[in-house]
Amino acid sequence: MKMLVTGGAGFIGANFVFYMMKEHPDYDIVCLDALTYAGNLETLEPVMSSPHFRFVKGDVADRDTVFRLFEEEKFDVVVNFAAESHVDRSIEDPGIFLRTNILGTQVLMDASIKYEVGRYHQVGTDEVYGDLPLDRPDLFFTEDTPITASSPYSASKASADLLAMAYHRTFGLPVTISRCSNNYGPYQFPEKLIPLMIANALADKELPVYGTGENVRDWLYVEDHCRAIDMILQDGVPGEVYNIGGHNERNNLEVVKTILRQVGKPESLITFVGDRKGHDLRYAIDPAKINRELGWLPTTKFDDGIKLTIDWYLDNRSWWENIISGDYQQYYKKMYGNR
Ligand code: NAD
Ligand code: DAU
Repeated sequence: MKMLVTGGAGFIGANFVFYMMKEHPDYDIVCLDALTYAGNLETLEPVMSSPHFRFVKGDVADRDTVFRLFEEEKFDVVVNFAAESHVDRSIEDPGIFLRTNILGTQVLMDASIKYEVGRYHQVGTDEVYGDLPLDRPDLFFTEDTPITASSPYSASKASADLLAMAYHRTFGLPVTISRCSNNYGPYQFPEKLIPLMIANALADKELPVYGTGENVRDWLYVEDHCRAIDMILQDGVPGEVYNIGGHNERNNLEVVKTILRQVGKPESLITFVGDRKGHDLRYAIDPAKINRELGWLPTTKFDDGIKLTIDWYLDNRSWWENIISGDYQQYYKKMYGNR
């Protein structure tokens, strides 16, 4: 089995590479990653010398690079994680989101058709369903919830999903799509809520909570996401969408307070700052389909997962301290300086 994993130097992609190499030691995995600000080759260090792993630096939207790689490797399966993934950055500069997330998906699918890939899996997000009201805890996103989008990021991911379904129907490409809720765990870039708050708390810096902190996210430990994708690759049906999420809803303030408690820092570090433009209120996945059809259920509870995650950030300080001491300083000033 030869598998292309795009975006494997990022958070979920790297965790997926580790998961697959552990669960399927006979698979050959090629990682294609442009090493943007979010990609980190140091993360992949543990697998770099494996004879079952190859890293290729390249842009998924660069047709020549992608077609050359497909010609060389003859992939059985393609799993597309490569994306611009941060909502706040998409509000600052949408263009790159359209290029990578939409055109990159098109290029990968064109190559998958030409080289007769057996399965193309598009890693999608629950953000394509828009948001749910805070006062209706009975409502959840199902695979039939209409597609809508609040941010340039979610619009680009929704476009990619629509394109993937169109390629399935029109060209017969064996596509599956997963739409997952918020992930957390090791190797997440410290611009996202949980690692940002852990890093700031450890440095006794203010914890910038947007708006009132009442927005709700449905948190899933990253390894549960990786296992769900593996199950979709094994038994998922081409042309189908699978929602992934674990009924682990928390509002942002609860998450931040949990982190502060665990690292022994005071709640006085919490600072309410200007809200995100177009800020989605609540995400909540109904995972009934993937549970019923593929037998997937999350295994890590939030209280355990957050502890594992905090321990990882404590044990791997150099990984994230290297990141936040570089260009990230400029980003932080720009995003939070006048908020
Ligand atoms: P990330 O930002 O941590 O990593 C993205 C990776 O893609 C990086 O390694 C980056 O270098 C690479 N990349 C970016 N542009 C590229 C390009 N043009 N060509 C090749 N590589 C490129 O993202 P993540 O959080 O790991 O998310 C991975 C995927 O999962 C994304 O598609 C995202 O939409 C989706 N997703 C994320 C979450 C979440 O909570 N993080 C939840 C659901 C779905
Ligand atoms: O739901 C899946 C999505 O989850 C993925 O598709 C995205 O790639 C991923 O980034 C994530 O999007 P969110 O916007 O939900 O994640 P983020 O970590 O940026 O923010 C989580 C919540 O915390 C959100 O309500 C905004 C809030 N927040 C975030 C940051 C960075 C703050 O209050 N303060 C912050 O500094």
